[in-house]
Amino acid sequence: MKIIRTVEEMQRTSQAWKREGRRVGMVPTMGYLHAGHISLVRIVKREAEACVVSIFVNPTQFGPAEDLARYPRDFERDCRLCREAGVDAVFAPEPAEMYAPDYSTWVVEEALTGPLCGERRPGHFRGVTSVVAKLFNAALPDVAVFGQKDAQQALVLQRMVRDLNFPVKMIIAPIVREADGLAMSSRNVYLSPDERLRALSISQGLDRAAAAFAGGARDTAALCADVRAGIEAAGGRVDYVEIRSRGTLAAVAAVDEPSVLAVAAFFGKTRLIDNLFLG
Ligand code: PAJ
Repeated sequence: MKIIRTVEEMQRTSQAWKREGRRVGMVPTMGYLHAGHISLVRIVKREAEACVVSIFVNPTQFGPAEDLARYPRDFERDCRLCREAGVDAVFAPEPAEMYAPDYSTWVVEEALTGPLCGERRPGHFRGVTSVVAKLFNAALPDVAVFGQKDAQQALVLQRMVRDLNFPVKMIIAPIVREADGLAMSSRNVYLSPDERLRALSISQGLDRAAAAFAGGARDTAALCADVRAGIEAAGGRVDYVEIRSRGTLAAVAAVDEPSVLAVAAFFGKTRLIDNLFLG
């Protein structure tokens, strides 16, 4: 497995693979890998003959009061997991390799980034779309896989790829959960044992919503109120619980089109997100 530090070497490597007739698949990550990330690698390996995982804690998607400095990192372990999963190259540039001191060009999606995390984390999605465009220009993937875990991010990036004609097949992969239901996240390490236990109220709320939806419940306000109540009863601070159209992320009063029930909540200082596709 190659470890690549520069954009130029990444481009040369990918171009060489393509000359050999290999399709290139990519999983962009910020590292501290877990089974959710590795599930994306497995999907790439079904779709492509060469697999790149990028590991880059992207400074431009963190707000000034967010966790950039303390974001968890373990590069050795990440490389071991990638090697075991059959990854061909880890692309791990330093920030200075990705962002010149006078960097000034941004990719901005202007519709789907309005609500939810876009509203609560100003500038976040500008950082995500810009870095993923740059990562695509480095690794030149034919296929890229993103997790439903970050549902709004996946929808925004699909829109970017469509709008800017990136020749990349986009795949959204299911959420991988711990045995007790907690959605896997690099940020779960921030949780104390007590917070970790209380955070289960998120996935438990989504399970209740899934059951209610299967039983015919369609009223958005009622479905969201139940999820919110469960999180608050467990001592979580709800950032948002909303049901929105999966096509437009517009608010819906009743779930009569493909929708997403999206949750963001704080347990202690840690902000967790999770979601459920409805319909
Ligand atoms: P990161 O949080 O490391 O996530 C990398 C990819 O793994 C994303 O597509 C995310 O949705 C997916 N993922 C995370 N947890 C998952 C889980 N439990 N099940 C399935 N997939 C999961 O998302 C980012 O990094 C960054 O914003 C990035 C796209 C790399 C741009 O910097």
